[in-house]
Amino acid sequence: MADELEKLIEVKDVTYIYSEGSADEVKALSRVSFDVKKGEFIALIGHNGSGKSTLARLLNGLLLPTEGKIMVKGIETTATRAKDIFAIRSSVGVVFQNPDNQMVASIIEEDVAFGPGNLGVDREELRKRVDEALGAVGMTDHKNGTPFKLSGGQKQRISIAGVLAMRPDVIVLDEATAMLDPRGRKEIMQVIRRLRSDYGTTIIMITHFTEEAALADRVIVLGSGEIIKDGPVGDVLTDIDGLEKVGLGAPLATRLARGLGIGEDRKIISIEELGRALT
Ligand SMILES: Nc1ncnc2c1ncn2[C@@H]1O[C@H](COP(=O)(O)OP(=O)(O)O)[C@@H](O)[C@H]1O
Ligand SMILES: [Mg+2]
Repeated sequence: MADELEKLIEVKDVTYIYSEGSADEVKALSRVSFDVKKGEFIALIGHNGSGKSTLARLLNGLLLPTEGKIMVKGIETTATRAKDIFAIRSSVGVVFQNPDNQMVASIIEEDVAFGPGNLGVDREELRKRVDEALGAVGMTDHKNGTPFKLSGGQKQRISIAGVLAMRPDVIVLDEATAMLDPRGRKEIMQVIRRLRSDYGTTIIMITHFTEEAALADRVIVLGSGEIIKDGPVGDVLTDIDGLEKVGLGAPLATRLARGLGIGEDRKIISIEELGRALT
């Protein structure tokens, strides 16, 4: 029972078909099953078109499964009562790829307040949440500025703050760093690290950068709509050949370690680990 309570999300045998029954139907996901427990940091990786974004949209009820079911805190995403839909949408916050499409207000703090404001959070509580969220992403100094002048990385930090201010149980980042330059990407990865260390936030990070996936504890690999692998980060990312079979490259450090003949049992996935192994 305690184990049941820990499950924030349960994905059971989910298949998703776009335009079902029409000539151009696409099976984006096929019999996908996994659970997300409170506090987990999961990286979801897969080649382009493997079904990652479809899964992200299913997790917060933007899409509903063609077959199978998804439960968020015990509520099925097909729920129709306003109260249930509200509970699902506010439990699973999704940050998408393009920060420009996620900006809604001309003042940064108003932008961050927009989501929770829509949830009906009262003014005083809203103030508190916005300040905390801006602090968590390191953007407090910019709160009275306009989002339009920010760098890509800063804009994406504001999008993340907007989701954080809704106090979701799980944050899903759907290739949230993909449009950013290396510096912006680094900024977002630092924010994610801080969410983990300071708040213990449950995170599902969708990425095709296996270097980024190396920060997670658990990695789920999607290939053509199916789960190919689901396991501890050190096991999944060091399977160089298995990743290549689904069009993904293992982290550079892992490939270097193999090239250098360093024991594969050491499960090297970061440059830091490789450095330690060499000294
Ligand atoms: N709105 C849509 N209508 C029809 N097919 C779609 C739609 N969105 C995605 N697809 C198809 O579903 C499959 C999975 O897409 P997607 O979930 O976006 O993958 P990923 O995020 O891993 O790149 C792809 O074949 C894609 O072309
Ligand atoms: Mg996608």
